[in-house]
Amino acid sequence: MFQQVEQAPPDAILGLNEAFQRDPATDKINLTVGVFKDASGKTPVLNCVKEAERRLVQSEATKSYLGIDGMPKFDELARNLLFGEEHEIVTSGRCATLQTPGGTGALRVAADLVKKVSANVKIWCSDPTWPNHPSVFRAAGMESVTYPYFDPATNSVKIDEMLNAVRSMPSGDVICLHACCHNPTGADPSPEQWKQIADAVYEQGLIPLIDFAYQGFGDGLQEDAAGLHEFCRPGCELIVASSYSKNFGLYRERIGALSIVATDEDAAQRVLSQAKICVRTNYSNPPAHGAGIVATILEDADLRAAWESELTEMRDRINSMRRQFSEMMSAKCPQRDFSYLAEGRGMFSFSGLTAEQVDLLREKHSVYIVRNGRINVAGMTDDNIEQLCDRIASVL
Ligand code: LMR
Repeated sequence: MFQQVEQAPPDAILGLNEAFQRDPATDKINLTVGVFKDASGKTPVLNCVKEAERRLVQSEATKSYLGIDGMPKFDELARNLLFGEEHEIVTSGRCATLQTPGGTGALRVAADLVKKVSANVKIWCSDPTWPNHPSVFRAAGMESVTYPYFDPATNSVKIDEMLNAVRSMPSGDVICLHACCHNPTGADPSPEQWKQIADAVYEQGLIPLIDFAYQGFGDGLQEDAAGLHEFCRPGCELIVASSYSKNFGLYRERIGALSIVATDEDAAQRVLSQAKICVRTNYSNPPAHGAGIVATILEDADLRAAWESELTEMRDRINSMRRQFSEMMSAKCPQRDFSYLAEGRGMFSFSGLTAEQVDLLREKHSVYIVRNGRINVAGMTDDNIEQLCDRIASVL
């Protein structure tokens, strides 16, 4: 069986991260995988997480299975964080939430569910998008296609082209949107553009699948949900895949949620019953630890306040590195405009580097960047930023 198997190519993001670990250079710089790093280059465990874990160790009374859809308290709190507990989508009961292994797990369950209930629909992804989006959707048997999104000439959203594309998508198809901190470009729609997008999506009869992996990393917890809230209209159908890897720093605990909004509570319960079959036939039921941490923090006023302040610190550091990166690149290459680096949101920026320049940076200078030119700004520190800008300037 295995003798004839071909070598698969390394993952576009995690493969480079592995190559970085193998690189013996002592001055290497890793700007690949989207993990936050503090000023010393470490990915810390948040203090609020440590405290929640202490409490969990004290109070946990069993390691028996969770339900197929996870921990009810976590599901409720995750839903409230997305929509607000007073929102009609929450109070009406027409949103079903399942705890999933990370945001990627939520995307895969969403794709399996869509394929199960509406076999022939396509999924539309932004050009460019997170490289794993089309892979996850195709693994579930869906056809994944693209819509225009980013204009490298202006480093912003090509809103007119995007809207025209949306207006020609077949009714019933699914459109994948990044709620904030667009991965890989860092370019988000403005509030006015979100309204135009939601109008066009619903007029066309499409189902939005909103990938919300960075809530709180852009402008704030509420501010970052503004695009999602534009889609929360009376009678809407909507899917949200949310992740707590980044905003709680819980990457390896694999904690996310899938929220499915139907037109009424009865439909939501029926869809939930189908989604539970997708879970049961895949990983059976989710792991508990990450959900326990998030629920412990969100339901305790003091821990929640501590979390929000640690989240603000992470966001402020990312934005400060963005500004420094933009200023330093402008000083080193005055013939180019780097103002967009400071204007983007979240951890990622499109550097404009070609795949050849990225390869040169890695091979000659041990600077690791995703080959589409995506830079993780959170991987920069006061200690490496000057050296990094010199090396980037040398290949431009
Ligand atoms: C990224 O885009 O780097 C992150 O979302 C991590 C991943 O799984 O690719």
